[in-house]
Amino acid sequence: MKILLFGKNGQLGWELQRTLAPHGTISALDYAELDLQDFDALRKTVRELKPELIVNAAAYTNVDKAESESEKAFAINSTVPGILAEEAARIDAPLIHYSTDYVFDGSKGQPYTETDLPDPLNVYGKSKLAGEKAIQAVSGFHLILRTAWVYSLRGDGFVTKVLKWARQNETLRIVDDQVSNPTWARMLAEITSQVVARGTNIVRERKGLYHLAGGGYASRFEWAREILKLDPKSKEQTVKDLLPSPTSEFPTPAQRPLFSALDCSSWESNFGLNLPSWKDALGLAMDNPG
Ligand SMILES: NC(=O)c1ccc[n+]([C@@H]2O[C@H](COP(=O)([O-])OP(=O)(O)OC[C@H]3O[C@@H](n4cnc5c(N)ncnc54)[C@H](OP(=O)(O)O)[C@@H]3O)[C@@H](O)[C@H]2O)c1
Repeated sequence: MKILLFGKNGQLGWELQRTLAPHGTISALDYAELDLQDFDALRKTVRELKPELIVNAAAYTNVDKAESESEKAFAINSTVPGILAEEAARIDAPLIHYSTDYVFDGSKGQPYTETDLPDPLNVYGKSKLAGEKAIQAVSGFHLILRTAWVYSLRGDGFVTKVLKWARQNETLRIVDDQVSNPTWARMLAEITSQVVARGTNIVRERKGLYHLAGGGYASRFEWAREILKLDPKSKEQTVKDLLPSPTSEFPTPAQRPLFSALDCSSWESNFGLNLPSWKDALGLAMDNPG
């Protein structure tokens, strides 16, 4: 199978490049090969490569910066997925795309299902929701996978930041009123690849929108506590006190939903793939950082 992957250097894209490899010939792209804001070049690339499956892990993911770069966020998170859906439909190739828990406003107080109404609080969430709608407006075969709090042990995400802060400070304050599903990028890539391994027909048969994230949910404070506990080099930690704080103590340009955990039971029943608990996945991630 010829697979075209966008966002190969991102947290998820990097893992997908490895996990998708056994299932076909992969053309994996990022900035160096193609700036997605060049829409003509994007269309040309898909037309030339004629993939049998397109996987889009590229996105504008800087939630705070998006507030002042709205046009760019919408171009990458909304216009690009729309173009990919059109080009995929043109060559009858399924499209797998990722979206976010930040499409919700966090007021429900319990995990969101796919039938709950989105109402994003920030530009990033609005641009990602627009991307979902742009794909849905095209009658092709697509999987839109909403995920949450994606992390990897590479790069500069929440897990690596907590590990760094824990080596620089004696006291750490972490918000305890933001709750969602910590999701290991490798777990997400592996689950995606297990579906791809069954062939593109499964995407055709079960196309649609699904929630797909780490099992269970936690506050950022609980997540940080577990990171410190599972740190294989915990002797290097200088931190003595981990303290819970309200979001209001850390003002940011973008407002974030407080409770945006995703209910992934539809994914589990439709695809027969159980999602590991976020704690188990975190333990594996800490032991396998590469
Ligand atoms: N991270 C999270 O907590 C989170 C939560 C919920 C949902 N998601 C969704 O999950 C998916 C994967 O997220 P992630 O954390 O893996 O994202 P990521 O690490 O930020 O990776 C995104 C990739 O897209 C690339 N990209 C951005 N703009 C581009 C452009 N104009 N041309 C070419 N490449 C471009 C980035 O390149 P550069 O790095 O060079 O900019 C990066 O390699 C995304 O759809 C995201 O919205 C993420």
